[in-house]
Amino acid sequence: MKVDLTGALNSMLQKTIKEYRAADECGDTRSARTKALECAGLLEQIAQSSPGQREIYMKRAQEWRVIAGQVEARGSGKVVESAGTGENEFLTYAESLIATTPVRWGDIGGLENVKRLMMETIVIAGLSKPESIKPWKGILLFGPPGTGKTLLAAAAAGSLNATFFDVKADRVLSKYFGESSKMVSGLYAAARMHSPSIVFVDEFDALSQSRGGDTSEATRKLLSTLLTELDGLQDKKSGQLLLTLAATNTPWDLDPAVLSRFPRRIYVTLPDPEACCEILKIHTKDLDCSSLDLGALGAHCVENLYSGRDIQNLCQQAIWHMIREENTNLHHLAELPFDELKERSLKVRGLCADDFDDAFENIRSPITRSDLQRYDEWMEKFGE
Ligand SMILES: Nc1ncnc2c1ncn2[C@@H]1O[C@H](COP(=O)(O)OP(=O)(O)OP(=O)(O)O)[C@@H](O)[C@H]1O
Ligand SMILES: [Mg+2]
Repeated sequence: MKVDLTGALNSMLQKTIKEYRAADECGDTRSARTKALECAGLLEQIAQSSPGQREIYMKRAQEWRVIAGQVEARGSGKVVESAGTGENEFLTYAESLIATTPVRWGDIGGLENVKRLMMETIVIAGLSKPESIKPWKGILLFGPPGTGKTLLAAAAAGSLNATFFDVKADRVLSKYFGESSKMVSGLYAAARMHSPSIVFVDEFDALSQSRGGDTSEATRKLLSTLLTELDGLQDKKSGQLLLTLAATNTPWDLDPAVLSRFPRRIYVTLPDPEACCEILKIHTKDLDCSSLDLGALGAHCVENLYSGRDIQNLCQQAIWHMIREENTNLHHLAELPFDELKERSLKVRGLCADDFDDAFENIRSPITRSDLQRYDEWMEKFGE
């Protein structure tokens, strides 16, 4: 029986790349060099077990050997041409954005329609199909803060076992200001290499503001590379899944050129009463909630315009209320050594309506009805 080791080798590679970056960032050239060489070795092993992509991986391995050489030269004070942000550096940085996600569809309460739309999109991208049926390459998730946009992207990657590139737009901009378009090319090169991949661009509006007129040159360049990459993907005939998900709270700020690349625009709404009940259950699981009237709590959440994040905070506060009531002298235990603490356990009881009273007082939704109206209007004009 042939055992496929590439998955395990790939996760070791990702871990080693992170270690390389950490060493490189704190100037520990000796460890950085060792880690770069380890990356090269791992890529060579991956190349052996992936005959179809052998050449790509061998080329990457060679690039890591070059990085190791550059690090060594830097360590010994020699001047190295193109050390710093060479092409390799961008690929390496892109690979450090790979995140593992334990999130699954079942961790998301409500949003049934949105989940269905996303699942369909992914399934269509993966299935064999006539050439004229083009899968969506980009999905825009928009909606108020805390409604589960990041969670949805993570669930899509988690359930597919896809490589998840977690890109915070403004962080990339500030790290590679002026060179961020190379960074985007590196990102898509890495995403193709690690396919199936999901590239998740959070805070997408930071990249693409149609108003205000102060979009910098760097941002414009980055954006045009991103658009080229998105267009390019459309033309490449391959069974690879490479999906770009973008999330924003302010879809009205998006440039029309950008919007046109994201024909699938999904409104991630505040939860309805039923979804609120589900989210309440998700964030109180392990605890006895049999004496709670979840329906009434859910209705209260809807009245208060709570998002999933607000409900999570609500549950946390209710849980803390219960813990404080059951363990009145909790802070005194801070005197005990840690080993002794481990011998004791926290007293818990089921949650009751009382636990939620103060929590409802404390948690205020940042969203107003007029904000919601703005989302509804945008949805009507431009949405799915
Ligand atoms: N539908 C949901 N089901 C369960 N938990 C949720 C849901 N929506 C939000 N949450 C909780 O709120 C947290 C924040 O959600 P998330 O980060 O996905 O929101 P977001 O829409 O990306 O917000 P932002 O626009 O501020 O980035 C999640 O980690 C989760 O704990
Ligand atoms: Mg988010």
